[in-house]
Amino acid sequence: MAYKSFSRRLKPACPQKGWKMDQELLKAERAILKQIARKFTNFGKKRQNLIPILQMVQEELAYLSPEALNMVAGYLELPKSEIYGVATFYNQFRFQPPGKHPIKVCLGTACHVRAGDIILENFERKLKICDGETSEDREFSLERVACVGCCALAPVAVIGETVHGHMAPSKVEGLLLRIEIEKEMQAREKQKNESGQA
Ligand code: FES
Repeated sequence: MAYKSFSRRLKPACPQKGWKMDQELLKAERAILKQIARKFTNFGKKRQNLIPILQMVQEELAYLSPEALNMVAGYLELPKSEIYGVATFYNQFRFQPPGKHPIKVCLGTACHVRAGDIILENFERKLKICDGETSEDREFSLERVACVGCCALAPVAVIGETVHGHMAPSKVEGLLLRIEIEKEMQAREKQKNESGQA
């Protein structure tokens, strides 16, 4: 599901973080960057191809990392400042990686009048990230979105692909706790399987 985001630009007040990359994630991202470098050749080395190239990079990597932007600058032989300038101009590009659990809080009219902004603030407080950011461990990303089409359930939050209606500030902690518990159970299960195989 893709919802229109209000705030995908890099906010000066929320600078990029040094996200903790576990080895698996690092390996996966490096492999995608290599794939991206191969795909550059599908585009001519012309400035007019900048937007389609950025779109391709975001489609592959799910965001525009500094490494990927440097690669684009190198391929098109354009100054990095120009690449950043163009990319940050468009709302379609995101500069922070999506979390494993992307959280979208609806601030469409129906949700807004039912205090959707307070739900968003609660997520921000609990996760210690701003709207539009990703947590350092890349577990969660948070963004406000326009109407997700379930106005009767307002206020609404979407975690992954699951819609949570009739949100209340007290529900926020419960939802996050549930994710933590599931994560812990999966880790235990993995450990059990690994020790069984040993
Ligand atoms: S305004 Fe939030 S679901 Fe429609």
